[in-house]
Amino acid sequence: MTERAELGPAERTAMGSANRLKLGLFGANCSSGRAVTTVPERWSGNWTDCVALAQLADEAGIEFMLPIGRWKGYGGDTDYQGATFETVTWACGLLAKTKGLTVFGTVHAPLIAPLIAAKEFVTADHIGEGRFGLNLVCGWNEGEFEMFGASLRDHETRYEYAQEWLDVIKLAWAPQEDFDFAGRFINVKGGRAKPKPYGGSRPLIMNAGASPTGQAFAIRNCDALFSNISNGISFEETASHVKNVRALARDGGREIDIYTVGVVTCRPTVREAEDYWRHAIQDHADWPAVDNILAMRNVTPQTHGADEFQRLRNHQSNGMGGLPMVGDPDGVARQMAELAAAGLAGIGISFVNYLNELPYFCAEILPRLARLGLREKA
Ligand SMILES: Cc1cc2nc3c(=O)[nH]c(=O)nc-3n(C[C@H](O)[C@H](O)[C@H](O)COP(=O)(O)O)c2cc1C
Repeated sequence: MTERAELGPAERTAMGSANRLKLGLFGANCSSGRAVTTVPERWSGNWTDCVALAQLADEAGIEFMLPIGRWKGYGGDTDYQGATFETVTWACGLLAKTKGLTVFGTVHAPLIAPLIAAKEFVTADHIGEGRFGLNLVCGWNEGEFEMFGASLRDHETRYEYAQEWLDVIKLAWAPQEDFDFAGRFINVKGGRAKPKPYGGSRPLIMNAGASPTGQAFAIRNCDALFSNISNGISFEETASHVKNVRALARDGGREIDIYTVGVVTCRPTVREAEDYWRHAIQDHADWPAVDNILAMRNVTPQTHGADEFQRLRNHQSNGMGGLPMVGDPDGVARQMAELAAAGLAGIGISFVNYLNELPYFCAEILPRLARLGLREKA
C-alpha cells in the first residue's frame, strides 16, 4: 500500500493547515444540527447532505468537521437531534470521501471498551491517512446513559475514569506491541493492538471540559480544548482564558490550542441577517425542545426565576449556547478576527442549514479572513 506522506505530531495538531485561524463545522451529524428551530429548511443531517457538505468544506480548505456524540433526541415539535449518526463510523465515511479535512469522532469514554475504541480510531485514521481526530467526552445526560444500562458517575469520578480510558488508548497506539494496565476502573492483561495509527504519529485529541476538572483533564492530555466563549464574555476575559490554559499546559511540558464555537447567520446586510436569525431562532424556535434540554440540566422557572429562565432559553435556542455571529460579511469576519486576536486557534461553526449557507460563507468570509492575514487564499 502506498501511504500518504507521514504527518508529524505538529502537523496533526495543526490539522495539516498553516492557517492562523482554523475553521470547522460543528454538529452536522445530527438532525437540526445546532439550531433548535422548526423552520422547514433546518438541517436534515442525512448521509447525502453530510457527504455533500464535507466535500464542499474540503474543497474550500475548511479544516475540520466535529460531530456531536448524541444518542437520544430532545423531543419537542421536531424531536430535536433525534436522528444522529454514530460519530466514528460517520467519520470513516467522510474521511473516505475527502482529501484534506480532519474529521473527528466524538466518543463517550464510559460507553465503549477502550481497546475496541482504540482500534476503531486506528481504522478511521488509516482510512483518512492521518486525518482522524478524537473528541473525548465523559457524558452528562442521565437518560442517554440509561439506554446503555450505564449510570453516570459523579462529575470528578467521570474524569478519573476518562484518564484511565485515555491512558489505555494511548498504550494501544504506542509503538510497543504488548502491554498491561492495572487501574482503579480498567484492567488490561496481555494487551495487544496492531496496526498503530497512520504514519507513525497519533490522532489529534480534543476535549471540551468547562469545569476546572474538565479543563485540567484537557491540559494534561489533549492537543485542543474547546471552550464555549459565549455572548457577554469580553475580549480580555477570552484572551486571559487562552493565556492561562496555554501557560498551564506549558508548565506540564505540553502545548494546547484553544477553540470555540460560533453560530453563524451571515447575509449581505446586517438587517437581512438579523431578520433571518429572529425568524429561525426566535419566532420559530422549537421551544418545547429547548425546555426539555433545560429541564435535563435542572433549569426551570422554579429553579432559576422567570427572567433568568427566559435568558437561558434564548441562549439555548441559539446554537445550544454558542457565540452568535449574526451580520454582514464584514461584521462576521471582524468578529472572527477578534477571536483570533484573543489567541483562539479556531472556531467550530454551525448554520441553520450548513449546505445552503456554506457557499456564501466561503465566498464572502474566507477572502476577508485571508486579507486579514488569518487564512491563506482558498
Ligand atoms: C464544542 C463542544 C462539544 C461538545 N460535544 C459534546 C458531545 O458531543 N456530547 C456530550 O455528551 N458532551 C459534549 N460536550 C460537553 C463537554 O464534553 C463537557 O462535558 C461540558 O462542556 C461540561 O464540562 P465539564 O464536563 O468539565 O463539566 C461538548 C461541549 C462543547 C463546548
